[in-house]
Amino acid sequence: MTSSVTVRVPGKVNLQLSVGPLRDDGYHDLVNVFHAVSLFDEVTAVEAATLTVRVEGDSAGLVPLDGDNLAIRAARALAARAGRPYGAELVIRKSIPVAGGMAGGSADAAAALVACDRLWGLGLTQRDLLDIAADLGSDVPFALLGGTAVGTGRGEMLTPLPVRGTFFWVFALADGGLSTPQVYGECDRLREAAGERACWPALSDQLAAALRDGDAPGLGKSLVNDLQPAAIMLRRSLARTLQVGRDRGALGALVSGSGPTCAFLAESAEHALDLSVALKSACRAVVSGYGPVPGAVVV
Ligand code: C5P
Repeated sequence: MTSSVTVRVPGKVNLQLSVGPLRDDGYHDLVNVFHAVSLFDEVTAVEAATLTVRVEGDSAGLVPLDGDNLAIRAARALAARAGRPYGAELVIRKSIPVAGGMAGGSADAAAALVACDRLWGLGLTQRDLLDIAADLGSDVPFALLGGTAVGTGRGEMLTPLPVRGTFFWVFALADGGLSTPQVYGECDRLREAAGERACWPALSDQLAAALRDGDAPGLGKSLVNDLQPAAIMLRRSLARTLQVGRDRGALGALVSGSGPTCAFLAESAEHALDLSVALKSACRAVVSGYGPVPGAVVV
């Protein structure tokens, strides 16, 4: 009988985040190109009578341990689906920035689903897990899938995109997080103030072609994030961070998701190192990585 299961799960950067109109349910219709990158959290589910969570790592103090913890909610949803009061101690080791726009909380929820499914011997299909994931949050299904995929609806309806090769990234981490609902709200406010109407978003052909061809300069030119002006409005220092990376020759520079992490596309692993050095003085910390990588897997 398995007494513990560990799952490794990646963070993501959004290569295209096109925000459409606000829907009646409070969400926005999106075209959201997710790209899983090699910043990983690990979630271990250990046999226990009740459901509890513990977080390890530098930013552990920033992660909620109550009902707001998405990993606990994921385990609870899975137990409810199985119709049994299963327990587990979830131990989360964090490397993905907390509230950083890289879907770290969503990644932990996806990892908790995979770990508890195995620990409890449920054997659910990926389709079942994706359905539970979509109810937990818009970014949770992608963390199960990984790779590169376009999300439509509120981001939860996923279609994998073909990608050639590997892209090298540098991430500038900021102090503190940004609230996702607040950033979406600011995006609506800015659009209203400018008299702009949100148009119906579509996948960028240029972006899809660059991914398919492994064309890093082409990808750099087609990166787009409609939430970026809102994130910068709420955190002015991000504009300077982005400029430092651009001045150092980043192929592309953008706020990741709702921020405040900034992502820079490098020409190569060597260029990523050069960018990392340049960015050190323009943010709290710098990490580099590559993508795409697979989604949540048992290790
Ligand atoms: O789905 P999730 O819980 O991650 O979303 C967090 C918040 O982000 C939502 O409550 C909403 O304010 C905003 N959001 C949105 N449109 C989306 C996804 C998220 O407005 N497609």
